[in-house]
Amino acid sequence: MKKTRFAIATLMTVVLGSAAIADAGAAPTSISAGVYTQEQAAAGKDLFDRSCSTCHNADYYKTVFQTWRGQPLMYLFEQVMSAMPADNPGSFSDAEYEDIMAYVLQLTGFPSGAARLQYGGGGMREIAIEPAS
Ligand code: HEC
Repeated sequence: MKKTRFAIATLMTVVLGSAAIADAGAAPTSISAGVYTQEQAAAGKDLFDRSCSTCHNADYYKTVFQTWRGQPLMYLFEQVMSAMPADNPGSFSDAEYEDIMAYVLQLTGFPSGAARLQYGGGGMREIAIEPAS
């Protein structure tokens, strides 16, 4: 009996402990929290200049962020992956789309951070879109 209680107490400690750890390392919660790296945006600029800038400018993306505010960045990212560039949809790799999105965030005034913007793993679901200032 005592042994069982001890085991449960230990288990609780482990569960609560890992919850605390998960919290401490929590993913950024919005696009203003620094969700891409400088290197990514630099790589994305080339692709963007070649494949996106003919049809949209920075102001266009500000309108898009305004429209999509509060929604997970993942939804917009998937929309872009499947529909853009409009003249050749889906023509980039996941990593290239990540770089392009990083550059779009930089272009619209959102800060960079320490971690790469990444589609794999689903972290973008926790990143909310905010209007650009
Ligand atoms: C040939 C022209 C063209 C090119 C090139 C192009 N787009 Fe678009 N894009 C469009 C059109 C047209 C729409 C739809 C506009 C609308 O419905 O408001 C659109 C919409 C979008 C939207 C808004 C999506 C939404 O549902 O709100 C985003 C974001 C976007 N494009 C990003 C990109 C990116 C990033 C690239 C480069 C990889 C790109 N576009 C290249 C024409 C283009």
